[in-house]
Amino acid sequence: MNAWIDVAAADDWPSGTCKVADHHGLPIAVFNLQGRFYATDNICTHEYAELCGGAIEGEEIVCPWHGARFSIPTGKVNSAPAYEDLKTYPVRVEGGMVQVDAEG
Ligand code: FES
Repeated sequence: MNAWIDVAAADDWPSGTCKVADHHGLPIAVFNLQGRFYATDNICTHEYAELCGGAIEGEEIVCPWHGARFSIPTGKVNSAPAYEDLKTYPVRVEGGMVQVDAEG
């Protein structure tokens, strides 16, 4: 079952930034990479840092606590100290609104 939730208008969303969508307490990070949108869990798989507060470098998000790197498009962990990948979620743009499927 899909659970598309609105995140923000695509036009007002600068490239290279992320926003957090909350789905019943599940925080999802949604990223704009040059007009392409991706979504992953917002919580680092190492400890409990909120990834949306980290730096976006190219197509990677860098954890603000201990520097683990994850691929934003795939959720794959690219460097320690995290070893587990992030879950990813489908994203679409409907009528100019970026939406994430929180159960996808
Ligand atoms: S909490 Fe993210 S690397 Fe430690």
